[in-house]
Amino acid sequence: MTYRLRRWTDADLPLLHAANVPEMMEHLAGPESAQRIRRRHEQYIRGWDSGRPHMYTVRRDDASEALGSIGWWESELRGEPCLETGWMVPPAHQRQGVATAAVRLLVDEARTAVREHDLPTTLLACPNVDNVASNALCRRAGFTHEGTLEDDYRGVPMTLNIWTISLGGPV
Ligand SMILES: CC(C)(COP(=O)(O)OP(=O)(O)OC[C@H]1O[C@@H](n2cnc3c(N)ncnc32)[C@H](O)[C@@H]1OP(=O)(O)O)[C@@H](O)C(=O)NCCC(=O)NCCS
Repeated sequence: MTYRLRRWTDADLPLLHAANVPEMMEHLAGPESAQRIRRRHEQYIRGWDSGRPHMYTVRRDDASEALGSIGWWESELRGEPCLETGWMVPPAHQRQGVATAAVRLLVDEARTAVREHDLPTTLLACPNVDNVASNALCRRAGFTHEGTLEDDYRGVPMTLNIWTISLGGPV
């Protein structure tokens, strides 16, 4: 099976609704309003022109629908610029290696962007410490664990793991 990433388009709004359920949003401060989902979708479309964020859907050659989302955007870790990533795969497609394939492709995409646009060479992922699947994913994809940080996501205080991977070096 071949996976690929496709730039977010106007047709991808249903994926955000499929992910806006309590079991998917357990570690992300719970489901969002329809209005916030629409705003997020518009940011994802505009991001490709404005530079933030660069979001993709995850595709597989045997499936017509999007299997999940992933992306990168410019961020900061301990006062230093970095790129940050985030992902989701709705329940119907989980535990089949979709996110693992997507992260590998995303790292390749981000490495290309770093080479072409002189961007920071660290990619950061910050899953909630209780998010077993996302933390397993970081480990599996070769990120290094660098401790934890306290943050406030949509008004909910959280302890997040800090995982990083280098985007620099030889191709
Ligand atoms: C995190 C998420 C993207 C994983 O997607 P996925 O396609 O099911 O992941 P994969 O099949 O590639 O599995 C990746 C790793 O996670 C583990 N994993 C996946 N789901 C798991 C679960 N429910 N419980 C425990 N481990 C799990 C897999 O065993 C695998 O680890 P391994 O390689 O050591 O065996 C998905 O669960 C999700 O969207 N969760 C809700 C949204 C979310 O939390 N997003 C992240 C915010 S940081």
